[in-house]
Amino acid sequence: MFRIESKINTQSKEFQNNKKEFLKVFDEFKNILKETRHGAPEKSVERHKKRGKLLARERIDLLIDANTPFLELSSLAAYGEYDNQFPSAGIITGIGVIHGREALIIANDATVKGGTYVKETIKKHVRAQQIAMENHLPCVYMVDSGGIFLPEQSKVFADRFNFGRFFYNQARLSALGIPQIALVMGSCTAGGAYVPAMSDETIIVKEQGTIFIGGPPLVKAATGEVVSPEDLGGARVHTTISGVADYLAENDRHAIQICRNIFETLEKKEKQQLELSPVEDPYYDPQELYGIAPMDLRKPVDAREIIARMVDGSRFQEFKALYAPTLITGFANIMGYPIGILANNGVLFSETSLKAAHFIELCTSRKVPLLFLQNITGFIVGKQYEHGGIAKDGAKFVHAVANAEVPKFTVIFGGSFGAGNYAMAGRAYDPRLLFMWPNAKISVMGGEQASGVLIQVKEEQLAKRGQEMDPDDREKLRAEILQKYDMEGSAYFSTSRLWDDGIIDPADTRKIIAMGIAMSLNKPFPDTKYGIFRM
Ligand code: COA
Repeated sequence: MFRIESKINTQSKEFQNNKKEFLKVFDEFKNILKETRHGAPEKSVERHKKRGKLLARERIDLLIDANTPFLELSSLAAYGEYDNQFPSAGIITGIGVIHGREALIIANDATVKGGTYVKETIKKHVRAQQIAMENHLPCVYMVDSGGIFLPEQSKVFADRFNFGRFFYNQARLSALGIPQIALVMGSCTAGGAYVPAMSDETIIVKEQGTIFIGGPPLVKAATGEVVSPEDLGGARVHTTISGVADYLAENDRHAIQICRNIFETLEKKEKQQLELSPVEDPYYDPQELYGIAPMDLRKPVDAREIIARMVDGSRFQEFKALYAPTLITGFANIMGYPIGILANNGVLFSETSLKAAHFIELCTSRKVPLLFLQNITGFIVGKQYEHGGIAKDGAKFVHAVANAEVPKFTVIFGGSFGAGNYAMAGRAYDPRLLFMWPNAKISVMGGEQASGVLIQVKEEQLAKRGQEMDPDDREKLRAEILQKYDMEGSAYFSTSRLWDDGIIDPADTRKIIAMGIAMSLNKPFPDTKYGIFRM
């Protein structure tokens, strides 16, 4: 493959200014992340430690193989909600390697409101299980939770993807032959009791872990029986009397060691084979992405410059380089893994959509994973394009993306607007993982466009009544919409609601995508079947 020749002068004023602006945004992100990771009340942390318990992230560190990375997902879930009283939504999820196997880890953070679940906690737990299911990853549940955060029950209990979905998912994962191990390291109450009860093997920590369908207060209220938590459902009860748990651990470290030992006994499953190349750093330094990351979405950025700083040796086999240039397509390697890349380089036209659908067909027939790099304002609008059938051509692109059975990964490096978000494997198209850069923006359209549309609608309403819009009202409406779109379009707003799997450092993108591909190989890629492409 040929190396991309960068046209960027890293000494130029433009590059240096962009970098300065990006680093401002990036520093803010790093500060928010740091604050969130230490966001639990000090007294709760102290009390937790005094009980001889490790913190959730310490538990994970000990569980995964030494000197291997942990890809933490959605660290800023629930950010900006509940007065920031649920840092990381009170649960840590991510992908780590245990005894050489990629695994999905879900760990309650008991220092955050007793590890209880609000809407985002549930979304994070369910999303983690979905990743495990799609990639056939063994699951580890490190349970330490008071169950549902009761004041929010109406938002977390009864709906399809609410609390009950955990146990449904556990049953489905089990039927797929995906191992699940529970470590009960604290409270495990009510519905939460099903987490260990539905796992393949369960470890419980002495004098810390409890499992019960109804805790002592509920038992007393319901039957009048007075019983201590330990006597109702402590570690001894479950390992000697009920059989709900299988291993009695002395403490957190012991429980984690038992879990690692269990991993040694798991069946080694066949993986998807890919044609691997030797790993090579990009020729162009990934940190140069700071000077290129789109800060002003009105200015075009050549996506080849982004690709050059992500792929091995900066080498790229560009497909249809001269045709439909607003979408860059081609093959490359990331940390030795082959990948097909689609990157936006402008607005989407009919021919762009055809090029994309063709390229996706190539990748699915060759079983090459796909990476979508989004910086998209949407599909082209106007009479000429509607007459040219942009809707049916765009539909071919959407159709190809939706049915592609190779693992898809999406990174939003600039803007993500309109149906461009969908065609480029947005959240609704089930990419295995989706990340945003801190500068990224996401909404149905830009604030300017939205205010233009809404003002026009208002003006037409008034015109029907023979009235005109007051210029001050128009300006007020415009300012309000701009402000709303600015706030709702930010990466923080998205990540807080789990529209993505996290905000990442652009320079880490290649390592994170490589980890994603490694994880995806645990489930052999099925053949892709397409339906009707409207011609
Ligand atoms: N809903 C709402 N808030 C809860 C809660 C719940 N289910 N469980 C605990 N909390 C809150 C507490 O009010 C406290 O909040 P604060 O820090 O603002 O004061 C915080 O979580 C920590 O709880 P606390 O009891 O002080 O901590 P602990 O470590 O001693 O005990 C539990 C933690 C989870 C064992 C205990 O709080 C408990 O048994 N909770 C009820 C569990 C239950 O019955 N759940 C059923 C829901 S399906």
